[in-house]
Amino acid sequence: MDNSVIINKNNFKKSADTILFDIPSAENKEQGFLVWFDGEFKAYLNQCRHMDVCLDWQPNEFFDEDKKFIVCATHGAVYLPSTGECISGPCKGKSLIELKVLEKKNEVVVFLD
Ligand code: FES
Repeated sequence: MDNSVIINKNNFKKSADTILFDIPSAENKEQGFLVWFDGEFKAYLNQCRHMDVCLDWQPNEFFDEDKKFIVCATHGAVYLPSTGECISGPCKGKSLIELKVLEKKNEVVVFLD
């Protein structure tokens, strides 16, 4: 079974953008999101490290106003988009769960296991 998600790079409109996706094989309908930030692609589970809740305040809205940090909608934990590390808030020092990515010419492959 091919346990990956392929996302076309053209779906990103501007830098500091995200694309939300479902993880179909997970028991509890988990989600992940692919981040395009500073010219790099990173993928994380859509799950805060403080409590087991989604990060986004609206579907696929992860960034703060200045598009510099990922912010948890529940208690405001602040994460670095490039590493997933929480730098402020109740889970400071922990990191988002990262998914491996492989960048190709026109698309990004996200591995789900
Ligand atoms: S659940 Fe994310 S900061 Fe509390």
